[in-house]
Amino acid sequence: MNLEGASAIVTGGASGIGEASARQLAAKGAKVVIADLNEEAGQAVASELGGLFVKCDVSSEEDGAAAVAAASEMGPLRALVNSAGLGAAARTVDRNNQPMPQATFDFVIKVNLMGSFNMLRQSAAAMAQTEPVDADGSRGAIVNMASAAAFDGQIGQAAYSASKGGIVGMTLPIARDLSAVGVRVNTIAPGLIDTPIYGEGEQSEKFKDHLGQSVLFPKRLGSAEELAFMVLDVITNPYMNGETIRVDGGIRMPPK
Ligand SMILES: NC(=O)c1ccc[n+]([C@@H]2O[C@H](COP(=O)([O-])OP(=O)(O)OC[C@H]3O[C@@H](n4cnc5c(N)ncnc54)[C@H](O)[C@@H]3O)[C@@H](O)[C@H]2O)c1
Repeated sequence: MNLEGASAIVTGGASGIGEASARQLAAKGAKVVIADLNEEAGQAVASELGGLFVKCDVSSEEDGAAAVAAASEMGPLRALVNSAGLGAAARTVDRNNQPMPQATFDFVIKVNLMGSFNMLRQSAAAMAQTEPVDADGSRGAIVNMASAAAFDGQIGQAAYSASKGGIVGMTLPIARDLSAVGVRVNTIAPGLIDTPIYGEGEQSEKFKDHLGQSVLFPKRLGSAEELAFMVLDVITNPYMNGETIRVDGGIRMPPK
């Protein structure tokens, strides 16, 4: 799919995988809306790319609508990258035999799973109103960010894995729903990717080196750019639909 002159929304586009995806979308000629909570970083990325920053909590209906409206004003909306996400490490029952606060679980589900669906449903509705771009009737493409933790979640990842497993589970039925309007839906499940989620400084570099040893090959964390290559592939390849793809250097994560 040709993105020249089209608009695209990248949630979580102020950082990490979302930022790298926004850069590659802009390089393909898309006008990108960075939809993120982080105003300072989001503004900086958006202005560098000639796009627009919209302060957006992905779990808010109004914020999602504002991001979609802003994108549609810049050009027909053809791509959504759902990269906003967060984790909260907590065991189901902790070392003092106390249960995980239900609010911790609910918050991760709200942002990662419900937030992804909120942005997806509103973006897809806008895409459905655009003119098709090719003889197939293609109108747009959506990429969700799950995680290897959807399949091999570790100790303390119940909420995160449930949120990402939900994203994997909804991929095919949504692709089926949206086939009627020519919108493709795919999900990427990253392994261990070198982004600001691991912090900065000497300690975090050591931690990342250590983590990299558990990757099958190559023995290092993936880069955000490597993930964004896959994001662009699934958006631009007209025959990619309804699939979840692991991009993880072959890692299968152990219990901890
Ligand atoms: N980095 C990894 O190792 C890794 C592995 C597997 C999956 N993932 C997933 O990939 C995605 C991107 O991760 P990353 O490493 O680039 O993270 P990151 O922390 O670098 O970026 C995430 C961005 O999401 C934004 N965000 C958080 N909550 C938001 C909300 N409610 N509304 C809007 N924006 C919000 C943050 O402000 C941030 O800019 C996430 O969904 C994450 O779960 C990352």
